[in-house]
Amino acid sequence: MRIILLGPPGAGKGTQARILMEKEGIAHISTGDLFRENVKNKTVLGQQVESILKSGKLVPDQITIKMISERLDADDCKNGFILDGFPRNEAQAEALEKMLQEKGIKLDAVVQIEADDEKLVERISGRLTCSGCGEGYHDRFKKPQHTDSCDKCGATGKFTRRADDNEKTVRERLNVYHGQTKAILPFYEGRGMLKTVDGMAPMEDVTAQIEAVLKGGKGGDRPSSPRPGG
Ligand code: AP5
Ligand code: MG
Repeated sequence: MRIILLGPPGAGKGTQARILMEKEGIAHISTGDLFRENVKNKTVLGQQVESILKSGKLVPDQITIKMISERLDADDCKNGFILDGFPRNEAQAEALEKMLQEKGIKLDAVVQIEADDEKLVERISGRLTCSGCGEGYHDRFKKPQHTDSCDKCGATGKFTRRADDNEKTVRERLNVYHGQTKAILPFYEGRGMLKTVDGMAPMEDVTAQIEAVLKGGKGGDRPSSPRPGG
């Protein structure tokens, strides 16, 4: 399976990508995670992008495209991959198409996770991440079983909040999504690849919707289940 997950900040791209990665045994490639890892490790790339991430603007295409091209060549992508957060504008979408052609890789689908802007700030401001294994949590919607330890890797005292998860930066990230990223939806729609799911549904329902659209289901319907995330 080779797919792209698209959606605004906080829509649940990372949450769903991690679930799919485990179920399908494929690579999860998050450009945001790759940049943050570089910032944490104080690499040259990390130093180049740190202030850009804090501002909520996009890292220059040249840097991002090169990073993705190299990442797709890694062994763990041979069985498939989920692209989370790439492409994010028309130039990146075109570069990805060219790159995949050159590498002889065919994309299966592009899944758009729709979400309501006004609820995303709440989602994002409650987000916690385990810096031990990257597992994501939420103060209300996905609490760890024990306050200070990760359900997944057991690490204690490792929960962090992202430097770009403040209201001002989230608003800028939303502007970038509406101004640049949404413009690539027609690119994939025109190729018959775009599937849409309701990201405001409970997490497990979003997973079920994604699995259904990937199996060839309709997609795009808003489920009638309650929406605690929203
Ligand atoms: P990136 O890291 O990709 O951030 P983003 O797109 O803003 O998205 P998020 O990671 O904030 O949200 P998500 O959709 O993954 O949500 P999550 O699953 O965590 O990018 C960061 C920055 O890097 C960019 O601003 C830019 O500077 C740079 N960058 C990245 N890619 C780039 C590119 N291609 N080009 C240039 N620059 C780039 O969920 C959020 C929270 O909600 C969690 O707490 C979760 O537990 C909870 N939650 C999830 N689903 C649900 C649900 N259904 N119900 C209730 N709660 C839920
Ligand atoms: Mg994410």
